[in-house]
Amino acid sequence: MGDRKKLLVVAHAPSPNTLILRQAVERGAQHPDIEAVEVTVLAPLDAGPEDVLACDAIILGTTENLGYMSGALKDFFDRSYYPCLEKTQGLPFTFYIRAGHDGTGTRRAIESITTGLRWRLVQEPLLCRGEYRDEFEAQCEELGLYMSASLDAGLF
Ligand SMILES: Cc1cc2nc3c(=O)[nH]c(=O)nc-3n(C[C@H](O)[C@H](O)[C@H](O)COP(=O)(O)O)c2cc1C
Repeated sequence: MGDRKKLLVVAHAPSPNTLILRQAVERGAQHPDIEAVEVTVLAPLDAGPEDVLACDAIILGTTENLGYMSGALKDFFDRSYYPCLEKTQGLPFTFYIRAGHDGTGTRRAIESITTGLRWRLVQEPLLCRGEYRDEFEAQCEELGLYMSASLDAGLF
């Protein structure tokens, strides 16, 4: 068990739809064909730098609120930034955003912070924008699956 890679999902899910999306990411990441990846899913307020330091890759998830990432995810970054700064350079990551109508401010903000951290964006971020559509769920599942399968295959 000790040699299993660790995939961390830190995602804010304040509504039934966003809970569905986070569960879909988790389901994809835990696909039965992927054996050597251990997946941990945390709400941002329950996650901290120790979780980041212990993982091999990370998926971030947030709503867009008032043109920015959720306060909860921002708080996670506020608490994790300096403890991680010197120790997590190159950490493979991707993210998804649930935005009622935009999402660009949130994307820019996440890219800015993760550029500061020198994390490595290894997969195109997913923007679930506009009125909620069922296809978002499949897209989130795919995001989790690709990230986990890539980690499993040693691609990063
Ligand atoms: C206070 C508040 C501010 C919001 N601001 C934005 C925004 O700036 N841009 C945007 O695209 N959506 C915005 N939304 C919509 C949320 O992104 C959306 O409701 C959330 O992702 C949950 O999605 P759901 O309604 O499908 O559960 C806002 C929602 C709330 C409650």
